[in-house]
Amino acid sequence: MATRKALIAGNWKMYKTARDGCQLAEAVARGCGQVDQRGDRQVLLCPPATILAAVAASVSGSTILVGAQNVCWAGEGAFTGEISPTMVRDAGGQAAIVGHSERRQLFFENDELINQRLRGGLAHGLLMLLCIGETLAEREEGRTFPILEGQLRQALAGVTTEEMARVVVAYEPVWAIGTGKTASKEQAQDAHAFVRGVVAEIFEKSVAAQTRILYGGSVKPGNVDELMAQEDIDGALVGGAALDPEAFIRIVNFR
Ligand code: 13P
Repeated sequence: MATRKALIAGNWKMYKTARDGCQLAEAVARGCGQVDQRGDRQVLLCPPATILAAVAASVSGSTILVGAQNVCWAGEGAFTGEISPTMVRDAGGQAAIVGHSERRQLFFENDELINQRLRGGLAHGLLMLLCIGETLAEREEGRTFPILEGQLRQALAGVTTEEMARVVVAYEPVWAIGTGKTASKEQAQDAHAFVRGVVAEIFEKSVAAQTRILYGGSVKPGNVDELMAQEDIDGALVGGAALDPEAFIRIVNFR
């Protein structure tokens, strides 16, 4: 895993109101809130925006990071329904996800929009998690790599080498999300190695060697260890299992 610090991120999606969300965050903080002190891994929680501030407050004093599930590019303005990177930071957040397949598929976000969100978040100092991934049809048609390359190149257009230090790529095959169907460790490793190669082409090899690439899609306590043992897998973006403190803490404590 080279010198890259592992990142285990929980994407809570549209689950949890304040009381339950804070209970979950506190349980995670009790279970692994000091894990970063080992120096080899970080934990990030991405609750719904309505409880970002409450969750950030409930894990303050731990090493757990908190982030948003999406973010606008502008600091403020007439953007009904959006939240700005400044607002994320004001709420105690340090990070944001962009390009999640649910945003792409259900809310018609395209690569150009995702590029704007990514660059705006970076400009305002956030750690940005960029999600990419192919659908089942695209995989079956043998188009996985060109799809990943296209998503990466478009999302990363205009991002500087310095900013890349705050970009984490999350490979999430759409067919593995919420389906209980994980990519095999070989499928995941192949995709991750490919992604690292594209990052090396866009920037340079040393940048790619430092870039963290997370796997997402039905990560569970039972499969995290073999996934994390792969050379190019630097962490996990966890959906369903992030809502269960016991499962999430076990995932954070991957071996
Ligand atoms: P699941 O872990 O529920 O498959 O969700 C993955 C995901 O979409 C994380 O962003």
